Parts: sequence; C-alpha cells; structure tokens
Amino acid sequence: MLTIASLGVSYEGLRALVDVSLEVGAGEFVTIVGPNGAGKTTLLKAISGTVPSETGRITYLAQDLGARRPSERAALGIAHVPEGRRVFPSLTVMENLELGAYRRAARASRKLALDEVLALFPILRERHRQLAGSLSGGEQQMLAIGRALMAEPRLLLVDELSLGLMPKMVDICLDVLMRLKREGLTIVLIEQNTARALDVADRVCVLSSGAQVFQGTSAEAKSAGSLFATFLGTAG
Ligand SMILES: Nc1ncnc2c1ncn2[C@@H]1O[C@H](COP(=O)(O)OP(=O)(O)OP(=O)(O)O)[C@@H](O)[C@H]1O
Ligand SMILES: [Mg+2]
Repeated sequence: MLTIASLGVSYEGLRALVDVSLEVGAGEFVTIVGPNGAGKTTLLKAISGTVPSETGRITYLAQDLGARRPSERAALGIAHVPEGRRVFPSLTVMENLELGAYRRAARASRKLALDEVLALFPILRERHRQLAGSLSGGEQQMLAIGRALMAEPRLLLVDELSLGLMPKMVDICLDVLMRLKREGLTIVLIEQNTARALDVADRVCVLSSGAQVFQGTSAEAKSAGSLFATFLGTAG
C-alpha cells in the first residue's frame, strides 16, 4: 500500500532522514520507534506531505506522492494524528470532529463516520459539547484520533500516541487502533513505549539519527533482545 524508497529529508541543509526505505502492506500495523531526534516525526510528515522529500520516492496505492500536496494526500485517504495532538482548544469536541470531515467525500457520510467514532470513544459522546481545551490529555488524544477517522482514511499515521498519557488511556487508544486494524485500516504508529509498540504491531522500524537501523517483525525484534535495545539506545 505504501512504499518508501531511499527517502532523504533535510531541514535547511541538516539531514533529518537518510536513505530510509519502508514497505507497509494493506492492513498492516507498523510502528516506528527510536531515540529523540531520530527522524520519526519527519518520516510521518514526509508521508502526509507537510515536509518535502529531498531524495527518494514515496508511493501510495501505486501513485507517486512526490508532487502531491498534503490536501491531495488526505483526499487519497492518508490521515495524520500529529505529535502533541493539536486539537482546536476553543472549539467543542463535536466541532473538532466535524472539522475532520472536511473533504467532500467524507462530508457525504459524515453522520455515519461520526456514529462510528463515538462508538469507538464513548467518552467523546458524553463530552461532545465540552471545549476540547478542557479535556484531559487522554481525551484529547482520543479526539485527535477521532478527528482523523472522520476523514475515513485508508492509512492512519499516529505520532507519539502515549506521550504524557496515563497507562489506562494508552490502553484504550491502543485497543481502538488494534480494532481498526482488524477492520482493515493500515496504521503507522510512532510509539515511545517500545514494549507496547511490539505488542500491538506486526512490524517495527527503528530509526536512529535519521537512519533506519532495524526493520523486522515484532517477533524478530523481541528475539533480537539486547541487540534491539542497542538500536534503541536503551541498552544498559
Ligand atoms: N522544522 C524543523 N527545522 C529544523 N530542524 C528540524 C525541524 N524539525 C525537526 N528537525 C530536526 O530533525 C531531526 C529529526 O526530528 P524529528 O522531530 O523528526 O525527530 P523525532 O524522532 O520525532 O524526535 P522526538 O522523539 O523527540 O519526537 C532533529 O534533529 C530535529 O532537531
Ligand atoms: Mg517526534
């Protein structure tokens, strides 16, 4: 579904990603892990189109994304839950969700999508009139995921799902992602909690200093043990 080949990204001459290649099959759940500054967020931004690729090629559903603007990529079914959640704090929960369905195709089936999102996250139904800025961090993460789902994506990109969240909230959000995966959604998740990442994902990609240092199934990563910890920079 998504093929990233020899991707390179730089910020004002400083290289953030070097020669990264990754294949994500339809219906797969892939996680990206790695130390701070490794280039994880940059990779997701390159896929959704908010940072330009310098080298390499990103292909999605047999189309070269290179020349496509972020809005066109969204129209093709790529949704991005950004780092830090970025809900609109002064809008209500419902208004935030409705903004997720801005595409013409999504607008037509907005009611259906809304019902599905509220079924996945019942707390958002309870709080639909509340201002997003007054939600807890976990609730804001649910809202950010819900807003992305309102666009009816085929590929969901989630950056730092668990950052700053209580374990229970992390569980709820990961459960929802696994449920969506079972329903056929393709997911790329950046997750700082590597153990949890390996539990939920089919495959894992480790970035370090902009380079891909490991790619394999979650089982392979688990059996790599201390070597895997070295890749992550967490070895004792
Ligand atoms: N807008 C920007 N301008 C300049 N440099 C940037 C910009 N965004 C990121 N970088 C740099 O690119 C590198 C990769 O950053 P990125 O945010 O992709 O890492 P990350 O793996 O997501 O890190 P973290 O775990 O801290 O979120 C870092 O060295 C960072 O300082
Ligand atoms: Mg990041």
